[in-house]
Amino acid sequence: MCGIVAYTGNKKCKDILIKGLKRLEYRGYDSAGIAIISDSAAARSGPAGLEIKVVKEAGKINIMEKEAGVLKIDGNCGIGHTRWATHGEPTKINAHPHLDGSGSIAVVHNGIIENYAELKEELRKNGHKFISETDTEVLPHLLEEYYNGSLLAAMQKTIKKIKGSGTIVAISSRQPGEIIGARITSPLVVGISEDGNFLASDIPAILEHTRNFIVINDFETVRLTADRVEVFDRKGKVIKRKPFKVNWDIGSAEKGGYDDFMLKEIFEQPYGVEETMRGRLIDGELSFNELGLTAEQIKNLKKIQIIACGTSYHAALIGKQVIENWVKIPVEVDFSSEYRYRNPIVEDNCLFMAITQSGETIDTLAAIREAKSRGAKIVAITNVVGSTVARESNSVIYTHAGPEIGVCATKTFTAQIMVMYLIGLYFARTRGSVSKSELHKIISELKIIPQKIQNILKGADKIKQIADKTYKHTCFLFLGRIYGLPSAMEGALKLKEISYIHAEGYPAGEMKHGPIALTDENTVVVGIMPAGSVYEKILSNIQEVKARKATIFSIISQKDKNTKKYADYIFKIPETLEELYAILTIIPIQLYSYYIAKNLKRNVDQPRNLAKSVTVE
Ligand code: G6P
Repeated sequence: MCGIVAYTGNKKCKDILIKGLKRLEYRGYDSAGIAIISDSAAARSGPAGLEIKVVKEAGKINIMEKEAGVLKIDGNCGIGHTRWATHGEPTKINAHPHLDGSGSIAVVHNGIIENYAELKEELRKNGHKFISETDTEVLPHLLEEYYNGSLLAAMQKTIKKIKGSGTIVAISSRQPGEIIGARITSPLVVGISEDGNFLASDIPAILEHTRNFIVINDFETVRLTADRVEVFDRKGKVIKRKPFKVNWDIGSAEKGGYDDFMLKEIFEQPYGVEETMRGRLIDGELSFNELGLTAEQIKNLKKIQIIACGTSYHAALIGKQVIENWVKIPVEVDFSSEYRYRNPIVEDNCLFMAITQSGETIDTLAAIREAKSRGAKIVAITNVVGSTVARESNSVIYTHAGPEIGVCATKTFTAQIMVMYLIGLYFARTRGSVSKSELHKIISELKIIPQKIQNILKGADKIKQIADKTYKHTCFLFLGRIYGLPSAMEGALKLKEISYIHAEGYPAGEMKHGPIALTDENTVVVGIMPAGSVYEKILSNIQEVKARKATIFSIISQKDKNTKKYADYIFKIPETLEELYAILTIIPIQLYSYYIAKNLKRNVDQPRNLAKSVTVE
């Protein structure tokens, strides 16, 4: 995600930038930096005693703040960044801002540049030198390459050259007092005040300075000076846009107007899933260099072993099913805490995958070490660049969900499922285990998953009404089969975690071997039953519990006209392929758990006894 803030005006900017970044820390917190056009006497590159000074540090913002204090830099125009690493570890060198070769252009960036490798190559040929591992560093060099007296014109050229997502903000000591911003897909707002003008990724960063804002749209650029804001469309023509007024208080603004981080993160899922696809699915073609496996190695695979804990374990179960179905090789899934103690067998040509959103779970780390000591090569799937699991694995695939603040995993889960889908399809293509036309069909469906999640989120009020009517029940059974089973297990886990109500996620067909004994009028049965090969089977299971007085809430697909005869409540989700329903069915379940917990007045962001990353056994 990353957070950006920038200011130009009649005040000194260092404190404005640092305070703004602290308000954006929820967007990323692995490193931070500022660049200020400083009224230094020792000018190197800018006119009349001006140069760009940069302070950046790995770690939380206050580490960088301390350093900025020691260096005593300040000025009236600057940019700042708090990072959530996507390319390159969260080190000082990789932290933003990044400079061009002459040191006269500084850039901060939020997003991913898909074609950065080829751009780097091109720029290298023209004599540019790179010092970081980031994709962002190509930007100041592109600006330098295109600079011809106007930073704005150079930016407009740059955004045409890059593929990817993001927001870019730049300053140059050759144009002091001027800030140029560009939005490709990530958010960017302008704040307008008597004392100067601001840019930020999000309103809370600058809310204490102004209530007047302008939103920048995709492919627009903006030029700020102390007393002027000009917005340009993608052709470079000036656009007139009236500012709007914001009346939020700062606390609710940090959560983007949502009551809790968990709800905000549920609503961020279309974005997290889209970002996770980015660069791996380009124009219908799959690319997975990060795996570090040759086509030959993929063709020779005999087995895949996945280990994970908690919610990540459920993503692994989805991975098992799609990989076995598409790639036709066996996949074993284990809890990390079990794997490490059960004397596991590591066979030749077995790929070992560890899924962990935090990258720090001690059991997963221990399982990796155990597998490594037995000769396994490890692929990590994690949301945190530079985490211990990422460092100890042979290769890493990052989910790009952005930082998750709520303890309860939501957007990292759907991003993990997306990685499972992408790996499954990549292996299937490499091994030829799925026909070209079938592959094309699945990829076309996958591409519109973010839109479908967005459509489901539009029904949040309906889910809330169902939660309002059912939250007093004391037992919840989540039932699913095949692709619906991991969603059922994840649903029960979500509800337990944040509402403290007893819940079970169970294979619908197994229910009659035990859990059905729990069923009475205090029970809610959540049936995950989209269209597909097992729909009829679950429908019978639902009738069995209905006959025992349970309240039925069915999650069904759009065209289902049948289930409503048996269920007390239904929620419809868009149609998709049977293998892909898991990433959709979980969305209403997350919302349902959330609204039940809210009815019970629970602290959903910090549930009792739980931690975001479990670093003890
Ligand atoms: C904790 C978190 C869960 C998470 C589990 C595994 O229990 O509260 O949300 O699913 O750890 O975490 P990992 O970071 O390894 O995915």
